[in-house]
Amino acid sequence: MIRPDIEASSLAGSTSLEHIPVLLVEAVTHLLGDAAANRAAPAVFVDATFGRGGHSRALLEKLAADDRLIGLDRDPEAVAAGHHLAATDSRFSIHQARFSQIEKILQDIGTTAVQGLLLDIGVSSPQLDLPTRGFSFSADGPLDMRMNPAEGLSAAEWLNAAAEEDIAKVLWIHGEERQSRRIARAIVAARPLHTTAELASIVAEVSPRPKGVQRKHPATKTFQAVRIFVNEEASELDHGLQQAFDALAVGGRLAVISFHSLEDRKVKHAFRHLSQPPKLPRRLPVRELEQTVPGRLVAGPIKPSLAELAANPRARSATLRVIEKVRAMEKVR
Ligand SMILES: C[S@@+](CC[C@H](N)C(=O)[O-])C[C@H]1O[C@@H](n2cnc3c(N)ncnc32)[C@H](O)[C@@H]1O
Repeated sequence: MIRPDIEASSLAGSTSLEHIPVLLVEAVTHLLGDAAANRAAPAVFVDATFGRGGHSRALLEKLAADDRLIGLDRDPEAVAAGHHLAATDSRFSIHQARFSQIEKILQDIGTTAVQGLLLDIGVSSPQLDLPTRGFSFSADGPLDMRMNPAEGLSAAEWLNAAAEEDIAKVLWIHGEERQSRRIARAIVAARPLHTTAELASIVAEVSPRPKGVQRKHPATKTFQAVRIFVNEEASELDHGLQQAFDALAVGGRLAVISFHSLEDRKVKHAFRHLSQPPKLPRRLPVRELEQTVPGRLVAGPIKPSLAELAANPRARSATLRVIEKVRAMEKVR
C-alpha cells in the first residue's frame, strides 16, 4: 500500500505503473520458514493481494516444481496481470475475489491446508498512479476509489448521498482527521462532487494552515478515510485475518504487511489473541497454558531497512508481522 502523504513527492516526474514490492525478502523468507528445505509433499501457498505479482514472482522462484501458488485480488486490472503470470507458470493460478472470501475460494478449488499465505494490504502503485482510478489527490480524475469498480458505491456516489454526520464519523474513525466535522460540512455544502481535485480543494480550503513547512497534503487523511470506507477495508481485514489463519496447515505461516497504525493495531491484536494463552482462573503450568493457543509469533514488527526506504519511499509506513499455526483447534467465532 502507498501512503497518500508521500504520493506527490515520490511520484514527481514518474509515469511508471509498476509496483515495487515492499519488504520482499523479509516476507518471502518468513513465509517459507525452515519448512522449505524439509517438505516432503507438494505445498500450497496463497498470495491474497496479488497486485502486480512482485511477491508472487519471488515466491515462485523459491517453490518446488510441484508446489502451487494461488493468487487473489479484487481488482480486475491486477487479475489481468495475474493471468499473464499464470500463462507462463503452470504452478500459479489467479482468482478475482476479496480476501474475506479466502475460505470459499479454497473450498471451490479443493484446497484445505495452506503452507503460507500473504496479505500485503492496501492499494498498489498502479491503483494510485492512474488518475482514472480516482484514488489520488495529486492527479485529477473521477472520484471513484473502488479497488473493484464493478462493486459497491464510488466515493462520489457515497459522498453525494451520505449524511453529514456519517461523513464526519468516517473521516474521524478511518482517517483520525481532527477537522472531520468541518470537512464534512464543507463537502455537503459543495455537493455534488465529481472529481478528486474537487474533493482535495474543498478539504484544503477549510483546513487550518500549520506554520512552517507542511509535509502532508491537507486532504491526506480524508482520502485515506474515504478509500477505507468505500472498499470496506476494516471488515475485510478482520474477516481476512481469521479466514487466512484458519486456512493454514499446522506449521503453515501467515505474513501480513500493513501500511498504517490502525491496520497494524488490528493485526497485532489478532496475532496476540491467537498466540497468547488466556488468563485462566486456575493456575496451570506454562507448558499446559501454551497448549491452549493455536499460534506462535514468528516475526514482527519488521520495518523496511534504510536501503529499502532510499530505493522506495512508498515503503515508509510498512510493517510486517508473521504468525505460524502450531496446532489445529476448534474454530472460535
Ligand atoms: C499493496 S498491493 C499488493 C502488491 C503486491 N504484493 C505486489 O508485489 O505487486 C495490494 C493489492 O491488494 C488488493 N486488495 C486490497 N484489499 C483487498 C481485498 N480485501 N481483497 C482482495 N484484494 C485486495 C488491491 O487491489 C491491490 O492490488
